[in-house]
Amino acid sequence: MKGVEVNVQRVSRSYGDFKALDDVSVTIKKGEFFSLLGPSGCGKTTLLRIIAGFDFPDSGSVEFDSKNILPLPPDKRQSNTVFQTYALSPTSPSMKT
Ligand SMILES: Nc1ncnc2c1ncn2[C@@H]1O[C@H](COP(=O)(O)OP(=O)(O)OP(=O)(O)O)[C@@H](O)[C@H]1O
Ligand SMILES: [Mg+2]
Repeated sequence: MKGVEVNVQRVSRSYGDFKALDDVSVTIKKGEFFSLLGPSGCGKTTLLRIIAGFDFPDSGSVEFDSKNILPLPPDKRQSNTVFQTYALSPTSPSMKT
C-alpha cells in the first residue's frame, strides 16, 4: 500500500507565552483518510506545518514509518501541502481581481 504511517507524539509548540499546541499525539495509519477538524485557532495549521517541515515543535516527536523526520527539510519528506492561501506565484492570473 502507498503512503506512510504518520506518528505524532506529545508535540508542543508555543509562540512566546502562547501555547498553540499542548502535548498533541496522533497516529495516522498508512492509507487512512484522516480529517483534522476544530475551531479556528485550535492549532490545525500549526500541526500540519510541523508535519510538513515548515515549523518545528518545542518538544515531542514526528515519525513517518517509525523514522524521525524532524531533521528533514520539507522537500525530503513524504508529504505534500495544499495551502489555504496561495503560497506561490502571487502574479498568477487566477489571483487577479
Ligand atoms: N507565527 C505565529 N506567531 C504567533 N502566534 C501564532 C503563530 N502561528 C499561529 N499562532 C497562533 O496559534 C494558534 C493556532 O493557530 P493555527 O493557525 O494553527 O490555528 P488553526 O486551527 O489552523 O486556525 P484556522 O481554522 O483559523 O486556520 C492561534 O491562536 C494563532 O494565533
Ligand atoms: Mg489553519
